[in-house]
Amino acid sequence: MSAVESFSAVEIIAAKRDRNVLTDPQIDWVIDAYTRGVVADEQMSALLMAILLNGMGSHEIARWTDAMINSGERMNWSALDRPTVDKHSTGGVGDKITLPLAPLVAACGGAVPQLSGRGLGHTGGTLDKLESIPGWRASISNEEMLAVLQKCGAVICAAGAGLAPADKKLYALRDVTATVEAIPLIASSIMSKKIAEGTSALILDVKTGVGAFMADPERAKELARTMVDLGKRAGVNTRALVTAMDVPLGMTAGNALEVRESVEVLAGGGPNDIVELTLILAREMLDAAGISGKDPEKALKDGSAMDVWRTMISAQGGNPDAPLPVAREQLVISAPSSGTMLSMDAMKVGVAVWRLGAGRSRQGEQVQAGAGIEIHCKPGEVITAGSPIFTLHTDTPERFARAQEILSDSVIIGQLPQGGKVDRMPLILERIEG
Ligand code: URA
Repeated sequence: MSAVESFSAVEIIAAKRDRNVLTDPQIDWVIDAYTRGVVADEQMSALLMAILLNGMGSHEIARWTDAMINSGERMNWSALDRPTVDKHSTGGVGDKITLPLAPLVAACGGAVPQLSGRGLGHTGGTLDKLESIPGWRASISNEEMLAVLQKCGAVICAAGAGLAPADKKLYALRDVTATVEAIPLIASSIMSKKIAEGTSALILDVKTGVGAFMADPERAKELARTMVDLGKRAGVNTRALVTAMDVPLGMTAGNALEVRESVEVLAGGGPNDIVELTLILAREMLDAAGISGKDPEKALKDGSAMDVWRTMISAQGGNPDAPLPVAREQLVISAPSSGTMLSMDAMKVGVAVWRLGAGRSRQGEQVQAGAGIEIHCKPGEVITAGSPIFTLHTDTPERFARAQEILSDSVIIGQLPQGGKVDRMPLILERIEG
C-alpha cells in the first residue's frame, strides 16, 4: 500500500469483523481505493463477508451508497421539459413489465430514463429481450440518450461505463464470493445506479416468492424499506411495491417471446396479470412524478403508448415491424392428469428457460433470441390430461432434456375441495412510501 493512503484495508475489515460502525472517512476511502485498485479483491471480499454477517446501520448504508455514486458520473436531465420518473424491478420470471410500462408512462407525460441490465441466471434482462428486435442497439451515448428522451419521452438502454463504476467491480466480486444476498449491499448497489441515473422519482418493484431473488416476503419488505429510505435521503421521490413472484408473470418467458407479449399489451390485449401490474406501476409513476389527469388504461387502448413504443424502438435502430426471431425447434409438454392446476414453480420455469438458451451463466455469453417457454395454463385453471401446459422453444434441441428434467415437478395438478381456492400470493403484498 502507498504511504499516502489514509487508511489500511486490514483495519477497516477488522472494524467490521468486530461489529463496529464504519466511519464516513473509512467508507469513502475503502470504496475509492477499491475502485482505484489499491484495495485488493481478497481484502474487499473479506469486508463484504463481514458486512453480510454483521450488517450495517442506516447511516453506514447511506454513506456506502454515496461513495458508490461518487465513484462515477451523475446524469442530468434538467434540459427536459417533463418530469423524470423511472421504475426498477429486482427481477423475476416472465417480468417484461418495463417494455410496455416505459412507453405507457411517456405517453401520459412522463420522461422515463431507463438504464437496464442483462440477464444473469434464471431471471431475464430487459436488454436481452429488446435485442431480439432486429437492428435495436442497447449501447448509446449520453447525448443520444437525451435526444431519444426528448423525442419519445422514454429511453431504455445499457448503463455506460462511467455510471457507478465501484458497483460494477463490487457486483462482480459479490457474485463469486457468496455475498450477493446482503440487504445493505443489494440496496446500495441498486440505489447508487438509480440515484446516479438522475431520475427525480422512482418506483421500486421488489419481487418476492420462489421465483424471486428475495424469496422471503419479510426480507423483501426490509429491502424495499431500505431502498425507499436511501432514495428519500437523496431527494428522489421513491416508493416501493412488494409484488408476487411465486408464479411466472404472463404467459411467456424468454427474450423474443416476451417482446411479443409486451406488444400485445401495447395493442390493448395481453394477459391480465401483466396488464394489471403495468397499470398499477404506471399510476404510481405518474403520481410520484406529479402528473395528474392522465389515464394509462386509455393510453393502452387508444394506441398512444404503442406509438411511443414504435418511435422509441426506431430511435435506437430497431424495426418495430420486423418479424421477431422464432426458435428452430419446439416441444410441447402436456398435463399428465386431469384436475385443477394448484401451483406452478416460477423458479423451475425460469431455470428451464435459461437451460433452453435464453439466459447466460457467464457474463458476455450469447443468448438465443427465440429460446423460452410459452405457458398455456396457470394455477387455478382446470386442465384435462394430455392438454398442453408448456411449449418449449430452442435453436438447440439437445437442450430439451435438461429443461424437461427441471419442469417435471414444476406444476402440481390435483383436486380442490368443494369451494376451495388455489393458494396464491396476492399480486401486491405491500406498498412502502418514504
Ligand atoms: N441488482 C443489482 O443491481 N444489484 C444487486 O446487488 C442485486 C440486484
